[in-house]
Amino acid sequence: MLEIGTRSGGSALLMLRVLADVYRRPARPPLVITVDPYGSRPYEGASFRYDETHYGAMKRALARYPNHIHYMMDSALFLRELDRLYLWIEGVERPLERFTLVYLDGSHDPDVVWHEIEQLRPCVVPGGFLIVDDTDWFGGEVRRRLDAAAARGGGGGGAGGGLAVRHNGKQSIVQLQVIDLGT
Ligand SMILES: C[S@@+](CC[C@H](N)C(=O)[O-])C[C@H]1O[C@@H](n2cnc3c(N)ncnc32)[C@H](O)[C@@H]1O
Repeated sequence: MLEIGTRSGGSALLMLRVLADVYRRPARPPLVITVDPYGSRPYEGASFRYDETHYGAMKRALARYPNHIHYMMDSALFLRELDRLYLWIEGVERPLERFTLVYLDGSHDPDVVWHEIEQLRPCVVPGGFLIVDDTDWFGGEVRRRLDAAAARGGGGGGAGGGLAVRHNGKQSIVQLQVIDLGT
């Protein structure tokens, strides 16, 4: 699972708790990867400030979960490096290439969010979800782009390939469709 935009770790903690409930020992819970630069990065569309106070709170909240990994960087840098990142898991080098859930709650600037969607959509497994928070910001621009992409839909590249979109309150939920290979 991947979350962009972590603040004090509230939503990541929820994911980690659910995973801990579902995956009981000796099963290993999936990783929860979070990305947030903190450092009072200017927040587009609001005067919110996310700094070391939030970073400290996040570390305290999530410290007891060894399946949590934080990358202290903005999504642009994370996405630029994603192809080159890997983790050592049980002695095996594993690329960071597939996510069952991607939760986008960092910047809400439409261009930033759209870049995240375009880059991460191919990494979501068929049947997996990409949830985008606060898509009502900026006049609903991200929502409009998602609807247009889904309407183009039907496989192929770009952000619209094989996805179903629905809007639920402030969030947009994108499900990557399962491809029937007919085998
Ligand atoms: C709305 S808060 C996230 C709330 C969190 N998901 C929760 O439910 O507790 C937004 C967070 O996104 C981070 N952020 C802002 N711009 C970002 C970017 N370009 N990439 C990644 N994170 C970003 C901020 O530092 C802030 O912590």
